[in-house]
Amino acid sequence: MRIGILGTGTLAAALGEGWARAGHEVALGGRSQVKAEKLAERLGHSMLAVPPREVVIGRDAVLLAVSWDGVEDTLNSVGASDGVLDGTPLIDPTNAVAHGVGTLLTGYGESMAGRIARLAPGARVVKAFHLFPADQWTSPPNGGQSHVTVAMCGDDETALHVVGELVRDVGGIPATLGALDRVRQLEEVAGFVIGLAFAGFDPNSAVPQVPSVDRRTSS
Ligand SMILES: NC(=O)c1ccc[n+]([C@@H]2O[C@H](COP(=O)([O-])OP(=O)(O)OC[C@H]3O[C@@H](n4cnc5c(N)ncnc54)[C@H](OP(=O)(O)O)[C@@H]3O)[C@@H](O)[C@H]2O)c1
Repeated sequence: MRIGILGTGTLAAALGEGWARAGHEVALGGRSQVKAEKLAERLGHSMLAVPPREVVIGRDAVLLAVSWDGVEDTLNSVGASDGVLDGTPLIDPTNAVAHGVGTLLTGYGESMAGRIARLAPGARVVKAFHLFPADQWTSPPNGGQSHVTVAMCGDDETALHVVGELVRDVGGIPATLGALDRVRQLEEVAGFVIGLAFAGFDPNSAVPQVPSVDRRTSS
């Protein structure tokens, strides 16, 4: 695939490296061209550093790897309101949560993915990759022996399929929770995990071990 990454920070580096290693062409860019070039050089794998507008043109998927409060500026800088992302799977990994507390910073009932969908008309927004720390995709615990489930929300089946493949390419198992009208629930989970972790509790111990239902035999 031809993948574009907006952002040059920790998550951009981790997923960019993972996808390039899986054989995809990765182009990345952010508000600092110098940072984009340094990151591309550091990661190797023929990674391209390009201006933000070029990151989004002609891509099979675009990852929006910027801080939640930089989302609007970033999408404006690529001309998202003009429809440049129309038809493109746009991955939203953002966490608009208070640092160390976990409360959501979006308005009551609002979601980041919904906001992104409004700022980028026509984009096929998929919420994914927001729950695990970035190094899950480069140096997973147990050497990657235990696969993690990446819960996703999105309205477009084709985009969910594309993002699901990108999840598999970095060692995850994709799981669609529902459409974008359910995404606030997924964003709240990040706040739940962060809140408990910073309070000194293992978030994994706060959810019951419920057996999964085999949908092939449950009907
Ligand atoms: N790191 C993780 O483990 C992790 C895991 C899951 C989800 N996430 C989410 O992924 C996103 C990126 O996280 P990160 O850890 O990669 O953050 P990071 O290392 O701090 O990088 C943030 C990126 O956002 C850019 N940015 C910030 N404000 C901006 C603005 N106003 N306009 C344009 N660009 C702006 C930064 O550009 P400059 O360098 O020029 O400031 C940088 O490229 C966040 O929404 C985060 O919640 C991160």
